[in-house]
Amino acid sequence: MQYTKLGNSGLNISRICMGCMGFGEPGNGQHSWTVDEAHSREIIKKGLELGVNFFDTAIAYQGGTSEQYLGRAIRDIAKRDDVVIATKFLPRANEEMEAGITGQQHIERMLDKSLLNLGMDYVDLYIYHMWDYNTPLYDIMEGLSNAVKSGKTRYIGISNCFAYQLAQANALAEKEGFAKFVSVQGHYNLIFREEEREMAQLCREKNIAMTPYSPLAGGRLSRRSGETSKRLQEDSYAHLKYDATAGQDGIIIDHVAQLADKYGVSMTEISLAWLLTKVTAPVVGATKLRHIEGAVKAVELTLTADELAFLEESYVPHHLVGVMAQNTPAAAKDKHVWSVGSQKI
Ligand SMILES: NC(=O)c1ccc[n+]([C@@H]2O[C@H](COP(=O)([O-])OP(=O)(O)OC[C@H]3O[C@@H](n4cnc5c(N)ncnc54)[C@H](OP(=O)(O)O)[C@@H]3O)[C@@H](O)[C@H]2O)c1
Repeated sequence: MQYTKLGNSGLNISRICMGCMGFGEPGNGQHSWTVDEAHSREIIKKGLELGVNFFDTAIAYQGGTSEQYLGRAIRDIAKRDDVVIATKFLPRANEEMEAGITGQQHIERMLDKSLLNLGMDYVDLYIYHMWDYNTPLYDIMEGLSNAVKSGKTRYIGISNCFAYQLAQANALAEKEGFAKFVSVQGHYNLIFREEEREMAQLCREKNIAMTPYSPLAGGRLSRRSGETSKRLQEDSYAHLKYDATAGQDGIIIDHVAQLADKYGVSMTEISLAWLLTKVTAPVVGATKLRHIEGAVKAVELTLTADELAFLEESYVPHHLVGVMAQNTPAAAKDKHVWSVGSQKI
């Protein structure tokens, strides 16, 4: 495993982050394909053995059970100080706004609930999961800064935002003396590269870590056509993100397969080796032991400039999908898919 600093923070992280969205009670939240506690624990243990020290979860994942599974596994298998734990909070719910709960109070309530779920007294990275158009940015940044001051989180990160939103937030933080975002978790992989328009440049200039989610496009960059899985069949949210462009994306996936054959490695290793040339640490989803084993191997693979170009040459710009397609004031009026069952605090 290789380790690196998370942007301007003091956190030393493994270059593979374990995504914990696939851990949690099936049916208790958005996904039907998640794995139970015993199975999650085995995967976390394997990750730790392979040198993974960076774990990403969220209060929104399976009604908080992802946080609970991760927290209990870390308590039993690892030393708290040896791992870097990231979790995320959701926008303020309508009921909170009606009850007069401020943005600052909302963040404190959500973080307290996450810490309870995790059984921890601090997290290393607290992530603003998606832009909250109904809460002033000042309140978000002050609330996050208070969380850092209280010692409940060491650093803050952001997810699912435009580059201008991140730049605006960190400029406000600088002016007010608040904590700044040290990392951004955007949707970025070989078949969805819109982060390269502006975000990558901003992150390079400001030393903000890119820790992208869905680095394997939910498994599409790991398997040849015809191969399937429970998740591929049941993850309807991923179908909404990837089905419309499957024809064009298939060319890129075929290039991944060709390079995998050339090296005698898995497609996962090729896809992640490419992304590792662009970002600090991809957040890789694992629901099987072999998933995390395969992901970790990618860190050792170096592709040539020609091979990187071969993987990139067929990409055409994509429309925004998933959470980013809903990053508008108008969409913020609707109840977001992630809000279901996760806001009971
Ligand atoms: N901030 C956000 O809004 C946001 C959104 C989504 C995800 N996330 C975070 O990002 C993490 C990853 O997201 P994701 O699960 O969509 O991403 P992903 O890493 O692109 O997809 C994971 C899937 O890829 C396949 N896979 C992984 N390793 C493999 C291997 N070695 N060999 C073969 N197949 C392999 C598996 O598919 P099969 O199960 O089909 O075999 C697995 O379920 C989540 O756990 C979560 O922490 C954040």
